[in-house]
Amino acid sequence: MNSSKNLLPCGRKSSILDVPIPGFPGTGVPIHETRGRSRTSAIRRFTLPDVVRKAWETDALELAYPDPSDRNGFERFEREAVAVAAKNCPAEITAAMQSMKTPGGEVALYIQNLPRDPKLPQPPHDGVRPISKETSVSETVLVGITNFDGEVFAYKEEKDGRPVQEIAPVPRSERKASNEGRAVLGFHIDDSIVMPCARPKGLGLYGLRNDPLTPTHVLDVNAFHASLPAWLQEQLARAEHCLCAPESFAFPTETWSAPTSIFSPTGDGRVEMALSIKMRGDNERAQHALDVVTSALERAPFESVILGAGSGADLLYFSNRFVAHSRGMISTGARWLQRVFTTPNLDKIRKMTGTMAPTRSFEARQLMMGHSGGACTRYS
Ligand SMILES: [Fe+2]
Repeated sequence: MNSSKNLLPCGRKSSILDVPIPGFPGTGVPIHETRGRSRTSAIRRFTLPDVVRKAWETDALELAYPDPSDRNGFERFEREAVAVAAKNCPAEITAAMQSMKTPGGEVALYIQNLPRDPKLPQPPHDGVRPISKETSVSETVLVGITNFDGEVFAYKEEKDGRPVQEIAPVPRSERKASNEGRAVLGFHIDDSIVMPCARPKGLGLYGLRNDPLTPTHVLDVNAFHASLPAWLQEQLARAEHCLCAPESFAFPTETWSAPTSIFSPTGDGRVEMALSIKMRGDNERAQHALDVVTSALERAPFESVILGAGSGADLLYFSNRFVAHSRGMISTGARWLQRVFTTPNLDKIRKMTGTMAPTRSFEARQLMMGHSGGACTRYS
């Protein structure tokens, strides 16, 4: 039996056993699926067998991550990474990733014992991939496996639009309420200021190192929504709430969205959420609702994982529509994750921004809520 650590909301270990399930390409060795989900659990967990991890790592060592400014080079890299993932990823994990596209499918996956680079340099202090990272195992696995759900893309205002982004504290930005800081980050949906159709649908975090054992928390949006009183659900569905652009966006001034709703029906019985670190009501009633829901978020049940703390790498991949996430404080010590955003709508976003393939880095300003006819409206 596998003995992976199953972390519950407050960091306790689960007593749930890992159950081997058969079948994946290649070796015939069973992978382990942790059947740890209760009805309120959002995360489906897997642990790769060592033999699979090693085979995937061997293939990934053949690929080289291109210069991020080389757009055609990234296209090639992505195709190769997808082929490597298709060859090595256990069928159960592939199916779970692909199920995220459909109603009733998974909303969050946590996969442990994934391939890692044989030698990692110190984490970057400038948010940029270190030149001294000699191999591209993490990028190959991250880009390859997340493509089962959507294509990788980015916004120019964040990390210069690099498709794979380094998430590590940046000394001059440690007080920021962003991925460059060390302070606690409350629950949020990444880049909520962007229109829903152009917002990241999936978010992948690949754990490389985590000396301070900083946890990442996830919260099931629909379970949370169902726990709220009807009056609050009704108020938060009104387009009366303004969202602030994240501090990770390189905007010179604080930028706010037009009034929008916090919860929006998706047409399949679910709701998706827009949730920024900073929000404000467009009127007194809306502000009161935001105060109440912020307080409810602080008490809501959540689940946690500690990325980057195992002997292998790990991946937390979740819906950026149906799962909100937060992060504990990063105390002294090195922490390094790599992040990708994914979307099934890459061509649609290209059309909205007047760009063409192979562009996959877009100006968020063109896609933010409130944008109309080439001019941003109702921003403060
Ligand atoms: Fe985030």
